[in-house]
Amino acid sequence: MRKFLVGLALMLSAPALAHEDRSELPHWQEASAWPDRIIANVTAEPQTSFAATWRTDHQVGRTIAQIVKASADTRFDVGAITVQAETESLDLERVTTDFGNMNTLENVGLGTVHYHSVVFEDLEPDTLYAWRVQGARGKWSEWFQTRTAAERGPIRFVYFGDAQNGIRSHWSRVIRMAYQTAGDADFMLHAGDLVQKGDSDYNWAEWFDAGSFIHAVIPAIPVPGNHENITVYNEAGERERVRTPVWRAQFTLPEEKGLAETYWESAYKIAYSDDLDIFVVDSARDDFDEMAVWLDAALSESTAKWTVVTMHHPFFVPETMHGRGRDMVRQKAFMPLMKKHDVDLVLTGHIHTYGRMSASETAFDRTSRQASGTPTDIETLYVISAAGAKNYPVWSEVPDTSIYGDGQTDFSGLSVDRVAENTPMFQVIDIDGGELRYTAYTATGIAYDAFRVHQDETGHKTLVEGEQAFGDTRYFSNTSEHLDWIDLR
Ligand SMILES: [Fe+2]
Repeated sequence: MRKFLVGLALMLSAPALAHEDRSELPHWQEASAWPDRIIANVTAEPQTSFAATWRTDHQVGRTIAQIVKASADTRFDVGAITVQAETESLDLERVTTDFGNMNTLENVGLGTVHYHSVVFEDLEPDTLYAWRVQGARGKWSEWFQTRTAAERGPIRFVYFGDAQNGIRSHWSRVIRMAYQTAGDADFMLHAGDLVQKGDSDYNWAEWFDAGSFIHAVIPAIPVPGNHENITVYNEAGERERVRTPVWRAQFTLPEEKGLAETYWESAYKIAYSDDLDIFVVDSARDDFDEMAVWLDAALSESTAKWTVVTMHHPFFVPETMHGRGRDMVRQKAFMPLMKKHDVDLVLTGHIHTYGRMSASETAFDRTSRQASGTPTDIETLYVISAAGAKNYPVWSEVPDTSIYGDGQTDFSGLSVDRVAENTPMFQVIDIDGGELRYTAYTATGIAYDAFRVHQDETGHKTLVEGEQAFGDTRYFSNTSEHLDWIDLR
C-alpha cells in the first residue's frame, strides 16, 4: 500500500467519467460499501506483524480493522483492538504514473475505488490472531484467523508459478487443492504473473475470487512478473514498462529503503525466522544492476539456516521459447550470487512449464542421476513452475546446447531432474531444522515430484530424491490435448 492521503489523491484523479451500465459486471468484481479483495501479506518482521489490504467503493473514506488474539471462547472478539486504516484512492480508468496519466481501456466505466490497509504490529510470535476489516460504518468482513511466524521451528509454505490465464475458472482449483493439501501453510508465495493484464480490474477480480478467503487466512508473498507491468509513454513519447499502480494499492509489502522507491513492495527481504530468509527479486525490469547490488548485500547479511530467492524469471530459459536475449542477462546478474551465498532454493515461473534443476560442485547429469534413497551433494536447487491454464513445452530433458545454445542461456553445470508438460502444479515446502522437504503436486492433489535436502552444521547439503521423482514424465504427447487458454472464462 502506497501511503498518501485520500483527499490529495482525489484531487489528483480525473473527474468522474460517465459510467457505462454496470449491470453487466459480475457481482464478484464490482466494488461496494462492503470490504472485499481482502488479503493478508507477510511483512518484513512476520513474527510480530502481518498486513491486511482490502477494497471498497470510493465512498468509503476513513475506516478501520480489528484484531484480537484468537481463543476457543464463543466471544473471542471481546477486547479486540481497533486499528485505523490507511486509504488509497485508485482511479481504474486513468492510470497515474511518473510519466503522467493514461487511460486504461481495460477498465472503462469502473471509475475510482478505494484500497485500505493496516499493518497489525506488536503481535506475539507463533500466535493465532482473529481479525476483520470494515468497509462503510458497520459493514464488516467475517473474522479471519491468521498465525504469526514462529521464531524458530517447523515452517510450511506453498509456492505457485504463474496463475495468469483462466484464473477464476481454472487456477481456482489449484489454489483450493493447495489449501486442502496444506491448509496449515504459514504463507503462500506467488512467483509472478498472477494475472494476464496487470491493469485489468477484471483479471484481479478473478484472482481474488479464485483464492477467496484463502488469501486472507494464509499471508501471501506476491512476486511481480512481467504481466504486472503496463506500457506507458514518457514525455519524449518513448515506450516504458512500469509496474501497474494496482500492485501497490492492493498489496501491503515491505518497502526496502535501501532501494529506489520504484522497487518498494516489489523487491524485499523477509526474515521469516531463525531458519528462513526469503528474498523477493523484481526481475521484470530492463536492467538488473540495482537489484543485484541489493541482493548481494542482503544475502551477505543473512544468518538464517535456509535461504530462498524468488523471482519471476528463471535463469534457464530455452532460447526457442522465451529467448529475447534477456535471460542470459539475468543469469549473469544473479546466478553468481546464488553460488557465492550458497542459496538453497530459487523459485521462479514465467516459462509455463515445470522444471526442477540442480547445481552442484560435481554436476551430475540426468543420465547418471542417483537412484531413490542415495544422497547426492548439492548446492542450489532451481524450480520453474506454472499453476495456471497456460502451458508450454519443456526443453529437451538434457538441455542440448546444439538446440538451445545460441548464447542465450548457459545450462552448463546443471542437472535437469524432473520436468512436466500440460500440468498445472503447486508446491509444498517444509523446513524443519536441517531438513527441507519439497513436494510438487498436480491440481488433483497427486504428488508428482519430491525430494528432501539435509543440511549439516557446516552448511553442507545432500539431496535425496523422493520416489515421486521417478514416476512417468508427463508430456503433451502422453496427456490430453491442450487447447487455447488466453480468454478462458
Ligand atoms: Fe512471465
